[in-house]
Amino acid sequence: MKAVVLVGGEGTRLRPLTETIPKPLLPLVDRAFLHHVLDHLSRHGVREVILSSPYLEAAFVPFVRERRGDPAVTWITEATPLGTGGAIANAARGLTETFLALNGDILTDLDLTELLARHRESGATATITLVPVEDARAFGLVSLDDSGRVREFREKPAEPVRGLVNAGTYVLEPGALDDVSLDGPVSIERETFPAMIAAGCPVFGHVARAYWMDLGTPEKYLQATFDVLEGRVGGLDYPAPFLAETAEVSLRAHLGRWVVVSPDARIGDEAEVEDSILLRGSTVEEGARVRGSILGPNVRVGRKAEVTGAVLAEGAIVPAGVRADSPRVPPGQILSV
Ligand code: GTP
Repeated sequence: MKAVVLVGGEGTRLRPLTETIPKPLLPLVDRAFLHHVLDHLSRHGVREVILSSPYLEAAFVPFVRERRGDPAVTWITEATPLGTGGAIANAARGLTETFLALNGDILTDLDLTELLARHRESGATATITLVPVEDARAFGLVSLDDSGRVREFREKPAEPVRGLVNAGTYVLEPGALDDVSLDGPVSIERETFPAMIAAGCPVFGHVARAYWMDLGTPEKYLQATFDVLEGRVGGLDYPAPFLAETAEVSLRAHLGRWVVVSPDARIGDEAEVEDSILLRGSTVEEGARVRGSILGPNVRVGRKAEVTGAVLAEGAIVPAGVRADSPRVPPGQILSV
């Protein structure tokens, strides 16, 4: 079985963190999120994944080089953004068997083996995984008929309504996307699937009851991490807080339960850190307070500084004594207040 994993978006909602790190390469607890996605695929029998990214392509080189075991990674060139539909169509050219396609920014313990079985039973050209949500405002709604066939994709509702939303995990027959243009970006959810449905192609929905979270925003990236630390995601088990072996945390620092301290990160005496992710080499100096924040690689939060809801890109600095609510600091910049 082969899979196409979409990793080429710019991750604009996670800026400025994603100015130097593509979203799928942000660590989830102890390793790049993409490793977790590929491990999940491997557990369900996927032996090869095809990846491409027009955005920060060079950042993926070490990942591809260091990745070991199943699935094998095939990297292909995507010179300009093809969008979700175009990127899958481009990667799938030449595939001759049923394949999986998925967004590379979704944390899920979805049973892919069951999804594939459902796809085969229904005889669909495409099967779209759907998850029920309480408030569908951030998503487009998908409706099914009694046989499970997709009737329509609806725009994002204005009111908080319950419904089924596209979970970004698909099974496709080879050739299903042959008509997708590779001349510019094409969205699979807004263009390709609605066109297939209008043309009468059998597109089915598979409603999954699984953990599911996209890591699209700082809040969701934090929440997904906390959920993993709480053991809410099947197959993942970590202590909370999570301290990497080479992290240096003062015995006089105060750490909440929902904290990740990555390799070579440092927390000084009397510092307080809660509900936060500290990426590799970041430092929280003596007496500083960090809450609900993401500290990129080599970030420094100075002595007695206080940040809440911060997204600090690689190498950003919060000077000593500064207090800030929801700051966003670009790579290598100093927060000024
Ligand atoms: P935002 O800009 O914050 O919306 O994030 P994003 O760029 O990741 O967009 P979105 O969440 O809609 O993308 C869904 C998935 O498709 C993610 O895994 C993206 O990496 C991926 N993706 C989006 N656009 C492209 C593209 O043009 N090419 C490729 N290869 N992947 C894409």
